[in-house]
Amino acid sequence: MKIAFFDTHNFERNIFLKENKIYNHEITFFETRLTEQTANLAASYPCVCAFVNDRLDSKTQQIISASGTRLIALRSAGFNHVDLESAQDLDLKIVRVPEYSPYAVAEYAIALILSLNRNIHRAYNRVREGNFSLDGLVGFDLNKKTVGIVGTGKIGSVMAKILSGFGCQILACDQMQNPALVMAGVQYVSFDELLKKSDIISLHVPLTPETRYLINGKALASMKAGVMLINTGRGALIDTQALIQYLKSGHIGYAGLDVYEEEEGIFFENLSDQILQDDQLARLLTFPNVLLTSHQAFLTEEALGNIARTTLENITDFEKGNNLSNEVCALKHLKQ
Ligand code: NAI
Repeated sequence: MKIAFFDTHNFERNIFLKENKIYNHEITFFETRLTEQTANLAASYPCVCAFVNDRLDSKTQQIISASGTRLIALRSAGFNHVDLESAQDLDLKIVRVPEYSPYAVAEYAIALILSLNRNIHRAYNRVREGNFSLDGLVGFDLNKKTVGIVGTGKIGSVMAKILSGFGCQILACDQMQNPALVMAGVQYVSFDELLKKSDIISLHVPLTPETRYLINGKALASMKAGVMLINTGRGALIDTQALIQYLKSGHIGYAGLDVYEEEEGIFFENLSDQILQDDQLARLLTFPNVLLTSHQAFLTEEALGNIARTTLENITDFEKGNNLSNEVCALKHLKQ
């Protein structure tokens, strides 16, 4: 099948080409993001393959649908950027990669915790400048600390298991309890209790209308002073403006952010020779106790291989008229 890949990057192209030797699809890579302005590039491609910062709103869908696209293959788990109702109206099928490596994301969240706690990001810069002082680099033991995991699905569950190995006490909140985690000593509590009692809080829920700004000013105020907040979920789980206020006051001790609510058009791009126009992001980058990365928690060889295989398999299933096991429908899901 002819596939127009949008927002493609060096880190993924060769893996897709290698895996495609089995599937034999006709792939065209576009570097540009899919937006209303670039949608015409998809003309005559029955399949569009999109990533997390492509814009799949109703207008864009109308353009690609009118020019012959029938399938949108997301090479991501999250689908919060897709207007599912519009896709249904246009009879556009949406498929995704529900699971490619929960370990990649959970291990990355752990890396953020350890780096922030032990000031590795600061130490790295210091020693390269010949500053071998330890002042200002004091961290804390993870052993016996209370970690709150918001969302114990695939990624949150792996987080809980890893953190148990560090000797942490795990509090969790989710609409559905995972019995295996309860057996392993994880304690499910209310969201409010988790916020009040945790030394570290890590977010692993999807972005939905319900979870948008889950971490707002009120939630930040109710956290322990000096808490560490980790977000590898989606940027808009946190009200960034409120987070900045609580970082300035010192109430939030550390923030590890792999996602940012306004990341579209910034993350995945090399903007190093431009003036950063996003003042909120610029302010976040000034805090020594904020470690911000460009949505890279998923970025392991294993995850990329699984993303490529599942995406190409999803497209083959559509082409052959098979059951679409990874389809996302407006009726089945709330926006994730
Ligand atoms: P999952 O679907 O396995 O787990 C999500 C869990 O959140 C479920 O157990 C669900 O019951 C729970 N949940 C949903 N709404 C809730 C609420 N209001 N309160 C409490 N719990 C709630 O998803 P998975 O695979 O663990 O991924 C989680 C999120 O991580 C994805 O939705 C995606 O946004 C993000 N992600 C980020 C990546 C990155 O590179 N930074 C890569 C992959 C996923």
